[in-house]
Amino acid sequence: MSHADALVLFGVTGDLAYKKIFPSLYAMAKGGRLDVPVVGVAREGWDLARLIERARESIAARVSTMDSSAFELLARQLRYVPGDYTDAGVYDRLRAELGRAQRPAHYLAIPPSLFPVVVKGLGASGCAQGARVVLEKPFGRSLESARSLNATLHSVFGEESIFRIDHYLGKETVQNILFFRFGNSFLEPIWNRNYVDRVEVTMAESFGVAGRGKFYEEAGAIRDVVQNHLLQVVALLAMEAPVGQDLDAFRDEKVRVLKSIRPPTRDEVVRGQYRGYRKEAGVAPDSQIETYVAMRVHLDSWRWQDVPFYIRAGKCMHVTATEVLVTLKPPPQRRFSGREFERHAPNHLRFRMGPDVEIALGATVLATGGRGHTENVELYACRDAIGQTEPYDLLLGAAMAGDHLLFARQDEVEGAWRIVDPMLADPSAVVDYVPGSWGPDAANALIASPAGWHDPVVTA
Ligand code: BG6
Repeated sequence: MSHADALVLFGVTGDLAYKKIFPSLYAMAKGGRLDVPVVGVAREGWDLARLIERARESIAARVSTMDSSAFELLARQLRYVPGDYTDAGVYDRLRAELGRAQRPAHYLAIPPSLFPVVVKGLGASGCAQGARVVLEKPFGRSLESARSLNATLHSVFGEESIFRIDHYLGKETVQNILFFRFGNSFLEPIWNRNYVDRVEVTMAESFGVAGRGKFYEEAGAIRDVVQNHLLQVVALLAMEAPVGQDLDAFRDEKVRVLKSIRPPTRDEVVRGQYRGYRKEAGVAPDSQIETYVAMRVHLDSWRWQDVPFYIRAGKCMHVTATEVLVTLKPPPQRRFSGREFERHAPNHLRFRMGPDVEIALGATVLATGGRGHTENVELYACRDAIGQTEPYDLLLGAAMAGDHLLFARQDEVEGAWRIVDPMLADPSAVVDYVPGSWGPDAANALIASPAGWHDPVVTA
């Protein structure tokens, strides 16, 4: 697929454009990679000068010193088309603004309820000709609605022209799971049910819904981050090595993992809601939406049979950290007695995916001068955050270049909905928890290990 020759941003006055897209466009301009017009579309009756100002504010909020020539380059590429998405005139004006562009990329940074109207408008006006479409999760709110969204997209765009963003796939730390697994031969022999005792994936955020109460009431933690980000992480942890080099081989393996996951039963899911959530703006006073969820899932596969995967995500948690812990089975015989026996932790692999980066291997050694005492230590394979590319910088560039590798395919999206649909259709009761805690105590009963959940540690 050749490079897009224009970028159209629907919802250019909105939050996503402000927080993520303008800073990424600026990064592209700074790297000399922004050589196409960027046409913003939104309902607000702004003019171009106002849009440029908005872009400046957004970038200033992210970078400490602005490179003025990069910003000027971005400003020169910006155009603005105001109008209501239901009005055919807006697409005609967009077509005129696109000029000679043959391969525009249409980025839908708008509420999902508006996807069908914009997609149809693009189709009817000829703006979809030779074009691609980029959209953000959530892709529907259930398996059925995901299928119907897909049918709408396919009524105008071919699958090769659809780019579904899950920004976790654009994180280098998430990609590192794959590189670490398949780039090291020492891991493969132990990466299975014979050596792995359990796998835990925790996404903890110490803040609440942060002004997104209305959105959260429609989503909840399961739709917001489990159906997409965390099940993608599980797929990367559990997948087989792709056969061959083509990019579908990689996504085929992820789909196989999703297919192998047994949807958790009602008593394998604990839903929580932080105290005070019901007082947030846009939240119903009797809301039953979960701001926390913990679940145990099983993979029916040769590699993972009987290895529990525990997934947990929550707002207003004790810390902000996304982390995977893979705990190995203990050695066959413990050579230590008494207290040493208790202190001797099994080996583990730990992947910290945010906000900082760590890959660590947990091991036991003789403590220095310890007279037979052991010590649990971690060997670091990586421990850094400097120089990482922002996910949106990577994903926007990849969509423009026509590279699908880091985007979700429809069968992945559907595979993930199949897992969470039953818990959404028949939800367990929501239990409250204290902000700043690790969520409801009820989640402790899900985990079989006497050590309980692994809580990520954040040092200042
Ligand atoms: C988004 C969710 O997809 O991911 C948010 O809608 C969440 O609720 C965010 O806070 C977390 O992203 P990151 O990159 O900060 O881990």
